[in-house]
Amino acid sequence: MTSTKLCRVVVLISGGGTNLQALIDAQQSGELPVQLTAVISNRPGVKGLQRAADAGIPHGILDHKAYESREHFDEALIQLIDSHKPDLVVLAGFMRILTPAFTGHYLGRMLNIHPSLLPKYQGLHTHQRAIDAGDSCHGVTVHFVTAELDGGPAVVQAKVNIFPEDTADTLAQRVQAQEHIIYPLAVKWFASGDLLMENGLSLLNGELLPHCGHLIDHSG
Ligand code: GRF
Repeated sequence: MTSTKLCRVVVLISGGGTNLQALIDAQQSGELPVQLTAVISNRPGVKGLQRAADAGIPHGILDHKAYESREHFDEALIQLIDSHKPDLVVLAGFMRILTPAFTGHYLGRMLNIHPSLLPKYQGLHTHQRAIDAGDSCHGVTVHFVTAELDGGPAVVQAKVNIFPEDTADTLAQRVQAQEHIIYPLAVKWFASGDLLMENGLSLLNGELLPHCGHLIDHSG
């Protein structure tokens, strides 16, 4: 029996949790050797919480509406997360702007997934914005979280075509299929110690990653 300690991962969600499900599936199939230690949602009643329950993962709600300020909520969230002693915090559709105190606390050990080819289209409505701009391709980025919204160093990016008949919904589906591949991959790299953030940059196997991260290109 190996005594290797598994990377403890806390996942933060606000909604449906399909990315959480991709992590659960990868973990359960043996592809992703981590311990999904807890799932925390800032919104009650979301499907992601049921997914955690179904997988037997401890889960809880910390409702931001119960806090008078962003700072107070983030302080309480840090306490709750840290009670699970995570090695890595994974934001999986966690729809909150984070305070610098929060991002600083988890610097180098917190990942986010954002549905665009960062640095393009930080913020919301990324699929429609890419279509409206007449872009020929779009995608998704996993990145380390820093104080800058959707601005930390990229780890891995998947690129897909935009077709003339695409709507924001059809494009979102194509992008989400890639999300569910690259997020478990990035978490696996981190858990194995192959991926780290140093001096504001992403390193994989000791090599500096390019600005867009490791690129998986399905466009063209
Ligand atoms: C995903 O599109 C992700 O890129 C974005 O929020 C969405 C979360 O979806 N950050 P889900 O809750 O994982 O289904």
